[in-house]
Amino acid sequence: MKCTTVNITSQKTKYKIYVGSGFIQNRIEDYANDNAFFIVDEKVASLYKNIIPSNSKRVFLFKANERNKTLLNVEKMLKFLKNNGALRDSTLVAIGGGITGDTAAFTASLYMRGIKLIQIPTTLLSMLDSSVGGKTGVNLQGIKNNIGTFYQPKEVLIDCYFLNSLTNKEYLNGFAEAVKIAAVQDKEFFSYIEENIKHILDRKKSVMEKLILKSCMLKAQVVEQDEKESGIRKLLNFGHTVAHGIESDSKYRVHHGYAVAMGMVYESQYALNNGYLDEETFNKIKNLLMKLKYPITYTPKDKEKMLLAISKDKKAGKDGISMAVAGSNMQGVIINNVKPKEIIDLFY
Ligand SMILES: NC(=O)c1ccc[n+]([C@@H]2O[C@H](COP(=O)([O-])OP(=O)(O)OC[C@H]3O[C@@H](n4cnc5c(N)ncnc54)[C@H](O)[C@@H]3O)[C@@H](O)[C@H]2O)c1
Repeated sequence: MKCTTVNITSQKTKYKIYVGSGFIQNRIEDYANDNAFFIVDEKVASLYKNIIPSNSKRVFLFKANERNKTLLNVEKMLKFLKNNGALRDSTLVAIGGGITGDTAAFTASLYMRGIKLIQIPTTLLSMLDSSVGGKTGVNLQGIKNNIGTFYQPKEVLIDCYFLNSLTNKEYLNGFAEAVKIAAVQDKEFFSYIEENIKHILDRKKSVMEKLILKSCMLKAQVVEQDEKESGIRKLLNFGHTVAHGIESDSKYRVHHGYAVAMGMVYESQYALNNGYLDEETFNKIKNLLMKLKYPITYTPKDKEKMLLAISKDKKAGKDGISMAVAGSNMQGVIINNVKPKEIIDLFY
């Protein structure tokens, strides 16, 4: 089965991303024959019984949710590896969405100071975004991704076959990240998304393969220049400052991707009001998100709490927050010293 390969090369690491449809079964079999260890999202294991190995000494089933993205589960995974004889040259294969990928990758980075990691993302979010970039981690005392490491996989194997079983909500939840990366980095890619809205909503494999590949390449380019988010990687936070406030205000009832989609609209409004963005680009971003069927407005339940959540954002400094926006011509811009109150005032 054909798939496209991209080589990712950074100063410290080299790995390959494979994107295609229908090639994954052979690759999983190869790793199973090679005595690899697997950490698999329990739901994916039950949906794809035909391709997920079932050897209990090799397969750790993980119930993927934010409450389980913890150090305790990392410890269980480490013990599973130790008790089943994993060695320094063993391979750990993570199969699942971003929660499974982040937790398993963190485990791989710790076991014997780091073993070989293969990512097989199964949600759109993890295909487009979380499986590339090397951020691993878990939540601590309810704070998302509070602890973790930077650890790159040896391979990322992306098979669009897994998209078939995602709900529409999960699918769109992931797609927001593709819009984001296009809006801050690549005008042509943004146009490609605009031209393919129907195919995207229909999950057409050939279009999705191109989109996933492009998103991964764009993210990898940014990460290569700035692995630890001290500069250009901050652009990937477009939409996320406001999303953080919406998620907190809605007690996480609004899914992350939906919050990011609304966040992109509000942050673009701020950029427009303050001369960082032209009206035409603003309308393009807003219209694309509407056509993809994202809600684009949000009514806060408690503006004060939302203000607090945005002010405590990790991008906050003493003079305000720094916020990434899509500038005119879809070149991302970081705006410094934004007053959180000015953001809150954009909401009715
Ligand atoms: N490391 C990074 O750079 C990075 C970037 C963005 C997000 N993240 C993290 O990613 C996580 C969110 O990832 P997610 O949205 O993939 O969530 P997830 O892993 O919880 O998956 C969402 C749901 O889909 C189910 N699922 C997985 N694959 C499926 C499939 N093929 N068919 C049907 N159901 C399937 C899961 O069981 C789960 O119920 C968050 O914890 C976030 O912090 C990490």
